[in-house]
Amino acid sequence: PQLTAHAQDGLCLEDVPLARIAAEVGTPSWAYSANTLRRRYRALRDALGDAGLRATVHFAAKSNSNLAVLRVLAGEGAGADVVSGGELRLTVAGGIGADRTVFSGVGKTAAEVREALAANIFQINAESAEEVEMLSAVAAEMGLRAPVAIRVNPDVDARTHAKITTGKAENKFGVAIADAAALYARMASLPGIRPIGIAVHIGSQITEGVSAFRAAYARVAELVTALRGRGLPVERVDCGGGLGIPYRDEVAPKPEALAGAIAGALKHLDLPVMIEPGRWIAGPAGVLISRVVLVKHGATRRFVVLDAGMNDLLRPAMYDAWHGILPVGAELFHSARRPADVVGPVCETGDTFTRGRDLPELRPGDVVAMLDAGAYGAAMSSTYNARPLAAEVLVDGNRWAVVRERQPFEDLLARQSVPDWVAG
Ligand code: LLP
Repeated sequence: PQLTAHAQDGLCLEDVPLARIAAEVGTPSWAYSANTLRRRYRALRDALGDAGLRATVHFAAKSNSNLAVLRVLAGEGAGADVVSGGELRLTVAGGIGADRTVFSGVGKTAAEVREALAANIFQINAESAEEVEMLSAVAAEMGLRAPVAIRVNPDVDARTHAKITTGKAENKFGVAIADAAALYARMASLPGIRPIGIAVHIGSQITEGVSAFRAAYARVAELVTALRGRGLPVERVDCGGGLGIPYRDEVAPKPEALAGAIAGALKHLDLPVMIEPGRWIAGPAGVLISRVVLVKHGATRRFVVLDAGMNDLLRPAMYDAWHGILPVGAELFHSARRPADVVGPVCETGDTFTRGRDLPELRPGDVVAMLDAGAYGAAMSSTYNARPLAAEVLVDGNRWAVVRERQPFEDLLARQSVPDWVAG
């Protein structure tokens, strides 16, 4: 990440001291590096190109749907992967056209599909036979043929956290690969569907090499060959997302390795491929800036209580995820370290960012940065415990701007009403 430790300015994201953002915007706040987003998008695109693939990169907007982030990626020519009508509206507002967007998800509603088709969606990934019938009915009613790929479930173990494994037979995602050819043939016979390809996504935060990707793509390649053998047209293959990043000491595969796995399995089919990365692009581009509220000396442990909680960054509570934690103030860079539990203010034991981590002697008012928080950070936050959503900031070289204001408390009251028969 474009984080550097300056002797005077403390921890900086690109050329902007995080202490300045904390002082001017308050905490907790998210900050994203525009140049990290650009650099990582290009690294993926170039790795695929260098492997001899005709490929497009569709940013998984679920990982970060901040408009300014989407706009930066739109400026690079990125497409998007969305999973709801809301995400589609956000990516369009962020400048990524629906004609460069894939619509995935197991539970698309007819209304969402109608909206996507009206916007001229590039591709819909169908996840079941039931959904295919609905897609055809909705499109036919609009006098259209929906461009549909079948998302297959290849029954491959991505060897990642169970909550983010998606490509095993027991998972709710995709069509069993054994049933895919028959469904593809059915699609070709439906009035509202133009079958365009096969999609696969086996999970997220995949770090143990690329063998799971390779296995999944090999199964997809076999399927494509079988479909073509039956005279069914296949225009492209969507290889999904999932490339992991090192949060701690994981050795994550490089984009070149992923590109190699795709090329190895699919290049001979001579068709365009797509990928849907979220975390790999946005994760390392963001930090969560938070202030120490107090340091509590419990009976057996030292608790550093932050003003950010699990409602802001849910990943540690939900997946036992590790995020690096650095002090922002230069005076703490070289101070002695002692184990501490870093916790949030939310009334749940799970609101713990880390336990027994060696950290400098943090004091109330000190600012810390939680690293690699640009993906599935703000996007997963909530207002639990009546804590308004944190502000978001975009940094670009020495420029920075608030790109989402801190949610005012009034928002939490705004849409509520009490019927008078309760009020009495
Ligand atoms: N495509 C599909 C169909 C997906 O379901 C996902 C993520 C992606 C692409 C992007 O995957 P990525 O490249 O970001 O790994 N909240 C979890 C991650 C959930 C991922 C869900 N699907 C976390 O914080 O680790």
